[in-house]
Amino acid sequence: MSQPQQSPIPVIIDCDTGVDDALALLLAVRHPGLDVRAITCVAGNTDVDGVVRNTLTVLEQAGAPDIPVARGAERPLIEPARHAPVHGSDGMGDLGLPAPSRRPVDVDAVTLLRREILASPTPVTLIPTAPLTNIALLLRTHPEVTRNIARIVFMGGAVEVGNATPVAEFNVWHDPEAAAILLTAGVPITMYGLDVFTRVVVPAPTVHRLRASRDPGTRLAGDLLAHRPATPGGSPDDSEAGGLGDAGAVCTVADPGGVTTRALPVEVSLAPGPTRGQTIVDRRVRPGEAEHHGEGRTTPLVDVAVDVDVDRFVKLYLETVER
Ligand code: BDR
Ligand code: CA
Repeated sequence: MSQPQQSPIPVIIDCDTGVDDALALLLAVRHPGLDVRAITCVAGNTDVDGVVRNTLTVLEQAGAPDIPVARGAERPLIEPARHAPVHGSDGMGDLGLPAPSRRPVDVDAVTLLRREILASPTPVTLIPTAPLTNIALLLRTHPEVTRNIARIVFMGGAVEVGNATPVAEFNVWHDPEAAAILLTAGVPITMYGLDVFTRVVVPAPTVHRLRASRDPGTRLAGDLLAHRPATPGGSPDDSEAGGLGDAGAVCTVADPGGVTTRALPVEVSLAPGPTRGQTIVDRRVRPGEAEHHGEGRTTPLVDVAVDVDVDRFVKLYLETVER
């Protein structure tokens, strides 16, 4: 007997496209199990207008132009905008891609998020792959949306080592207050942090094959991967091998069995100084002296990705994008 067909999962991606955000978009729009209801843009890897342009370009190259795209926050809640030069001067690897012919919708990101979340007949999964400014503004402006959010699977944070600073990951470091608002949203949250993010790498011969494809979306995936470093902090020129980066968060929604998670208390350091933007993940096996002396806090539990099946996610990515 054939299995009953599952309906696609309604998802909204909040991104700062971004080389690896582009990889994430290519996967999401081509995965039959995901229904991308909207894409919202926020300042991060580049300025927000550049993010909108890059996002629309990716959708056109992927042959998925109809998804509504909205412009969001120009800068973090408190910090200034600080872009990530690793993504090139246009934020997408300076690949010389054509300007998009479409425009964003005429409402802002928070309005589009609210509208699509509340209009969905089944609860929506949010996939932020960027600083969390838009999501924090949404949660503070329209808290009623949480009743129709199934889960937030965000790329951000790190259990171990940071990248923007020794301890802070870029998306959380860029807007720590926004990340703190997300973590206390009261909805189920999965943290796809640097610990797993950096591990999912597509080997050089496969990237070479993608770059030779006749399909513009597949070719774009290859060119983007060739621009990504294969090792954290490595140079993209070393080899065509490249990490899936943010696309791993989309893999996590499409195939949750590809990651191992642990429910752990997570909070963000908002203090000025060297720990600002660090995600402090409590892995202690028992309460410590602070709790003994009544200093314990009730930190929300987050499903933290602690391991990833690299081959499974690479296979999922290729099977979907090369379809
Ligand atoms: C995150 O920062 C950005 O540069 C990437 O797009 C990713 O979302 C990794 O720290
Ligand atoms: Ca990103």
